[in-house]
Amino acid sequence: MNHNSKKNTLILGITLGVALLVLAAVFIVFGIMKNGGKPAANGPYDIIVTFGDDPATQKNFSWYTDAGSSKSFVQYYEVDSKAAAAKPDFKGAHQTEGFVETFDTFVPAEGQENSASARMEAAALTRHGVFVDGLKPGTTYVYRVGDGKSWSSGGVFDTAPEAEVSAGDGFSFLIVGDSQGYTRNDFDLWANVYGAAVNNCPDSAFTVHLGDFIEDEDNALAWKYCLTLPDALRSATLVPVAGNKEDDNFLKYFLLGTREGVTGLNGYYSFDYMNVHFTVLNTGDGSKDLSKAQLKWMRRDLETDAAKNAAWRVVLIHKAPYSDRNHADDSEIVEIRAQLLPEFEAYNVDVVVEAHDHYYFRSEPVRENGSVNAGYSSETVTAGGEQLTLFRPQDSERRGVFYFMPGPSGVRQHSKGFREMPEILAAKSLLLPYPTFCRCEVTEDRICFYTYTVDRYNYSTKTVECWGISR
Ligand SMILES: [Fe+2]
Repeated sequence: MNHNSKKNTLILGITLGVALLVLAAVFIVFGIMKNGGKPAANGPYDIIVTFGDDPATQKNFSWYTDAGSSKSFVQYYEVDSKAAAAKPDFKGAHQTEGFVETFDTFVPAEGQENSASARMEAAALTRHGVFVDGLKPGTTYVYRVGDGKSWSSGGVFDTAPEAEVSAGDGFSFLIVGDSQGYTRNDFDLWANVYGAAVNNCPDSAFTVHLGDFIEDEDNALAWKYCLTLPDALRSATLVPVAGNKEDDNFLKYFLLGTREGVTGLNGYYSFDYMNVHFTVLNTGDGSKDLSKAQLKWMRRDLETDAAKNAAWRVVLIHKAPYSDRNHADDSEIVEIRAQLLPEFEAYNVDVVVEAHDHYYFRSEPVRENGSVNAGYSSETVTAGGEQLTLFRPQDSERRGVFYFMPGPSGVRQHSKGFREMPEILAAKSLLLPYPTFCRCEVTEDRICFYTYTVDRYNYSTKTVECWGISR
C-alpha cells in the first residue's frame, strides 16, 4: 500500500467513526425525548416468586411495570444446575400467560425520593401475575417474566422434592424480617443483609420474610427498593408473612393461592415442604387478635393429615405472641397471646417463628399458656461449622412450644424496651447492634436455627446463637 492509499484509508475510517458517533447521539437524544426526559424504563421490577398450593408442582410469579405493558408471560425451562442460569437461552422454553391489572398507588414527589417524610403523588402502576402449574418435583428451572417484548433478566427457581425428610437428609431455608424502611439507603442495607444471607445458605429452598417489608405501604418506590435491590430475591421462592406495615397492600405485592384462588386470599395460608408443615398466620386480619374465620381455618389446617403426620410443625407469624420487649404488653399482643398459646400447644406445634419486636428472643419450651417450662435435656455439638445447642424435650407427649425471634433484617434495631414480665419464660433475650438473618436446617430428627448479625458497615457476619430441637 503506497502513502496516498494509506492516507485515504485513514480519512475514510475517521469519517465513518464520526458518522457512527453522530448516529448514536441522535438515537440517545430521540430516546430521551420520547420518554419525557427520562431514559426508557418499562421493564419488570418487584419480581417475586411464591409457592402455589403445591410446592412440588406449582409456582406463582408477580411483578410490576410502569403503566403501559398489557401482557404477562413467564417463560421457563429445566436445567441441570443453577449455574446454567448464567447464560439463559429461552428458545423452546415453556410459556404461560397470566393477568394484568392497574394498581393505583403513590410515589414520592420528584426530588424527595430519599426522604422519610416525602410528599407523595398518585401513580398508576401495572401489576402482572402468572400462576404456573404442572412443574416437575425436585427440579431446577430458569425463568424470565415479561410482556413478550420487554423481558426481565433470567432467574432460577426449584420445585420441592417429593421425598420425605430423613435422619441424614432434609433441606435448609432462610428467615429474614422487618426490613422496613423508606429510602434507598435503608434498603441498600437490607439488600446487603439479604446478600450475606444467601452467601451463608446458597442452597436455601426458600426464604421466609416475617413481615414489615416497608414503613409506608402506599410508597411504591420503597416497595421497589425492598423487592428489587436484593438481586438474589429474583432467584428465591419467597414465603411472605403479613406484617402490620403492609396491611391492605400485602396481596398487591405477593401472589398467593392458585388460579382457582383456593388459599391465601386473606393473607394466611399453609404449605408442606417435603413433610414439614408450615402454617403462615396474618396478625392483621382481626380487630386485635386473629379473626374467628382465621382461627377456624388454622384449626382445620393443623388437623389435616399433612399437619398431624408432619416431621415438624412450624408456625410463621409477624406479631410475636410470646416475647419480653417493646410490644410484649401491647393490648392486642396480650389478646393474641391468650388466644393462640393454648392452640399451639394443643396442636403440638414445635416452633413459632415470630417478629415485630426487633431483637433476638428464644423461649424455653413452654406449655400451659406459656407459664410452665416443659423441660428438656441439652447437648452441644459441632454442626454446620458452629457450636450448636440441641434441646431434647423430656416429655415426648407434652413437649412444649419454642417461641423464636431471630431479629430484624433492616435498619431498625430496638435498643431498649425490656418489659418486666416474669410470666414470660425467656431463655435468650438479646438486644442487637446490627441486622440479622437466620438459616434453618431441617432433617427428620433435628430442626436447627443458625442466626447471624451483619455488620452495617462492612457486611461481615457474626454468630448470634445456634440452637435446635432434637428427637
Ligand atoms: Fe411490626
